[in-house]
Amino acid sequence: MAEQVSRLTLLLNAPAPTPPSQSLSQPKPMALSLSAAASSRIFASSSSSTARLSLRSSSPSLLSFSSSLKSLAFSPRSSYFSRYQRSAVNVSNSGGFSTVASPKCAASDPDQLKSAREDIKELLKSKFCHPILVRLGWHDAGTYNKNIEEWPQRGGANGSLRFEVELKHAANAGLVNALNLIQTVKDKYSGVTYADLFQLASATAIEEAGGPKIPMKYGRVDVSGPSECPEEGRLPAAGPPSPAEHLREVFYRMGLNDKEIVALSGAHTLGRSRPERSGWGKPETKYTKDGPGAPGGQSWTVQWLKFDNSYFKDIKAKRDEDLLVLPTDAVLFEDPSFMVYAEKYAEDQETFFKDYAEAHAKLSNLGAKFDPPEGIVLDDGPTQAAP
Ligand code: HEM
Repeated sequence: MAEQVSRLTLLLNAPAPTPPSQSLSQPKPMALSLSAAASSRIFASSSSSTARLSLRSSSPSLLSFSSSLKSLAFSPRSSYFSRYQRSAVNVSNSGGFSTVASPKCAASDPDQLKSAREDIKELLKSKFCHPILVRLGWHDAGTYNKNIEEWPQRGGANGSLRFEVELKHAANAGLVNALNLIQTVKDKYSGVTYADLFQLASATAIEEAGGPKIPMKYGRVDVSGPSECPEEGRLPAAGPPSPAEHLREVFYRMGLNDKEIVALSGAHTLGRSRPERSGWGKPETKYTKDGPGAPGGQSWTVQWLKFDNSYFKDIKAKRDEDLLVLPTDAVLFEDPSFMVYAEKYAEDQETFFKDYAEAHAKLSNLGAKFDPPEGIVLDDGPTQAAP
């Protein structure tokens, strides 16, 4: 196996958000760092066209990409190939690497999607990585610009987040860890696109955390190279001068409305913010010091691996200094239009679940090119999440 590996060291500086209130920890410019998990390697399948991307952290502030590869990529497997012919796989010997992984029949194979879903459930059980997988799916989809018609220039759920050039956008700090985890599943299923896998992982994480069933469809086509990644700056900032205006500017550009902005923000019922990644949150709190998963960070809720409506209750109450409230969270109870939904969701979990499921499915489809055009719906067979 010919491997061309060179070392590319990146210092990724996230911008310093400015918190408007003392209730938030003081963010400061931070270098993106990798946890111990990220010092493991990502292997992208194996065959003559094997590519290997190795990620290591040489210091807390440095990301070393031990690879000249510009992307994560995969090699088609013969069993899948017999049924779903790939259009092309381009591998250059010059250290540059790009794959074009567009099957002629459908972007992803339904059976492989179902098996991948089972693997993701196992991953969730062992790594407690629900939150970061949700964030991965959201950050791939959330670059969508409804004012651009052409794919993939319009951004959205197209797998572009697997490329280093996009991963190193400040908003994506830490997501290399999610990619690292999901790559272990990708390696087994060449018949599932990255774009589908990111969204499958996110929806499965919500469901497995106790959230609603998301009416998902699959068949998203992957972009084929880093040149097809969106420019930096399409995702929302946590501490803009006018949070409500900023949220509307960003989410309206995605074609989402006020109700969907509030419902989707409810995903922060899961997970934590880490100062060494985004610059926001405390290094640890009484709710995060023991994990599960890698300890540390500041969560929005007490039970941050459980999907429920406690996010709305907690950011409304703002009573616990150990719970995070970003400026863009706080504004949901300040802006008159957002407030209608936030109040409702704090009172009524059923309505939150219903609206969240619809909004999440819509988010997961943003900008995606489906093959077949109508998408692939996985049936409710034995692989379905238990109620
Ligand atoms: C409304 C605008 C939003 C802003 C400003 C925002 C900002 C942030 C920030 C600063 C973090 C901390 C990242 C870190 O330090 O690791 C974070 C984490 C997270 N975000 Fe958002 N977010 C927004 C919307 C969303 C949406 C729409 C979703 C999903 C539908 C989402 C899901 C998550 C999750 C699950 C985490 C936790 C990740 C983890 O624990 O590793 N966010 N977000």
